[in-house]
Amino acid sequence: MTDRPTPNAARLPEVVEAARPHARCLVPQDDTKGCPPAGPFPGLRAAVIYSSVTGNTRRLAEALTLGHLPLFSVTRQPDTTAYDLLALGFWVRKGLPDARAQRCWAGIRAKHIFLFGTLGAWPHSPHASRCLEGARALLTANGNRIVGEFLCQGRVSPHVLAASARKGTHPMTEGRAARLAEAARHPDAGDIAAACACWRAVLAALAPQAVPPALPPLPCRTEHSLIMSASTKPLFPSPLPYGA
Ligand SMILES: Cc1cc2nc3c(=O)[nH]c(=O)nc-3n(C[C@H](O)[C@H](O)[C@H](O)COP(=O)(O)O)c2cc1C
Repeated sequence: MTDRPTPNAARLPEVVEAARPHARCLVPQDDTKGCPPAGPFPGLRAAVIYSSVTGNTRRLAEALTLGHLPLFSVTRQPDTTAYDLLALGFWVRKGLPDARAQRCWAGIRAKHIFLFGTLGAWPHSPHASRCLEGARALLTANGNRIVGEFLCQGRVSPHVLAASARKGTHPMTEGRAARLAEAARHPDAGDIAAACACWRAVLAALAPQAVPPALPPLPCRTEHSLIMSASTKPLFPSPLPYGA
């Protein structure tokens, strides 16, 4: 899997490419073996499936329906054999896609995947790149083809920050405070527009007829309480540091 668009890949608007290090349209890709063909597909069936605890990834997922695609939470996972192209949303937990997303992805094979996610770290950081690599690896291991990806910051729950402060796991340095303050403003309208531009480029390359006219930006975020349980533990431990 290359991490750059191939020369004949659909183009993202230049402003999106320049400003978003993890907004990519990667179709069509000719160099991936054992994966579904690159398209285009007149009858392509697409859906959005997301995992979200505090609502950041859900906001992106809702926008990616473009007003007409089916939307599912991983807690009510659909029969994915009914779809050819899936936009799969995750949030980063300890350097990896969250456990519910991982569990959902374990049953997904030989699909075209648009991968999107939110995290507290800077989206251009090595930590973000490694998170995306980890997500990519989980999906490509099952013969899926990554046709696009998008990552942006998402507000970190105050409950988590308070717990971390109590435990003293991550000292509140000036750099960390700045990062968390910025994360608290995301995903914003710019993130949502960039994610949709990326997704539209994928759809335009694979199934031009599936791209409806642009929608107006979504309304402001709402608050959601954090639900943590044993089931949110990742399937394997993360080697990746977070909090620097
Ligand atoms: C338990 C926990 C662990 C987290 N670990 C990381 C991490 O390793 N790296 C990171 O960048 N953000 C991490 N975050 C921040 C979340 O990825 C971020 O807030 C995300 O937008 C939450 O998405 P959601 O609102 O869709 O649930 C963590 C958040 C929680 C609650």
